[in-house]
Amino acid sequence: MVIVCINNKGGVGKTTITTNIAHGLANRGKRILVIDQDPQANTTSILAPESQRTNTIHNLYTENESVEKYIHPTPYESLDVIPNENATAAMEIELYRSVASSYRLLREKTRDYAISNYDHTLIDCPPNLGIFVMMALVAADSAIVPVEAGSRFAIDGFIAAFEAIEMTSKKLNHNLQFLRAVINKVDMRTSISKTSVEYLRRQFSDKIFNTTIPLNTDVMKAEMSRQTVLRHAPHSTGAKRFRALTEELLGIISKNNL
Ligand SMILES: Nc1ncnc2c1ncn2[C@@H]1O[C@H](COP(=O)(O)OP(=O)(O)OP(=O)(O)O)[C@@H](O)[C@H]1O
Ligand SMILES: [Mg+2]
Repeated sequence: MVIVCINNKGGVGKTTITTNIAHGLANRGKRILVIDQDPQANTTSILAPESQRTNTIHNLYTENESVEKYIHPTPYESLDVIPNENATAAMEIELYRSVASSYRLLREKTRDYAISNYDHTLIDCPPNLGIFVMMALVAADSAIVPVEAGSRFAIDGFIAAFEAIEMTSKKLNHNLQFLRAVINKVDMRTSISKTSVEYLRRQFSDKIFNTTIPLNTDVMKAEMSRQTVLRHAPHSTGAKRFRALTEELLGIISKNNL
């Protein structure tokens, strides 16, 4: 299955969730490919050491060679990555010139190979609903949307992402489905966090993962050391919750034959 992680609000946890779910699934014996579709290249900095920053997605998009050339091993067993780089941002204008074919570019370049060689592929996206995100939605089977607890803007971002998924599944990719939202940065000591978790559960009940991710300093420290929290602090609360989220995701995948 190809899973995309989107929310047009920045900083809600797309990269943290993509990299930790990817590592969690790899730890459960799955072969995982991560595609960094964000020119900020944050996922790349966690999964691809400096030495591997050649043959990026930028080259994949501009060259006419098969996708293997752009897939790199990572320090995580069973987990490979197609890295990104800042230069990819400048491609946007060019991609908008022929929108219809650009939308299909990521799908056409990666999907067949990814489906035959990996159990699951995860795509991390930039914080907008622009062309790179549309390309990812066209390439994917399902979408996960992180929502930051206690932030009205993040809830608005969730609704906008949900609408973009619906629109894409109607017009461009009939197989695409919204999988679940995941509530991130939950701090149950604050009433604003509690209220927003209750609000989200009331409004969107079955569309939300039961597992929430707490606001956890080990998650921040892991990012500082350019690692997943599962590797940096495997016994932390953050890591435990990401393992629980991985299990919940595996349950949904097997229940729905995805
Ligand atoms: N559960 C958490 N607890 C503490 N810090 C977190 C948590 N989740 C994410 N963060 C921190 O919040 C910041 C933003 O997270 P992240 O980069 O994953 O968001 P993003 O949605 O990918 O951002 P962007 O939109 O810029 O791509 C990072 O510094 C990250 O370490
Ligand atoms: Mg990110």
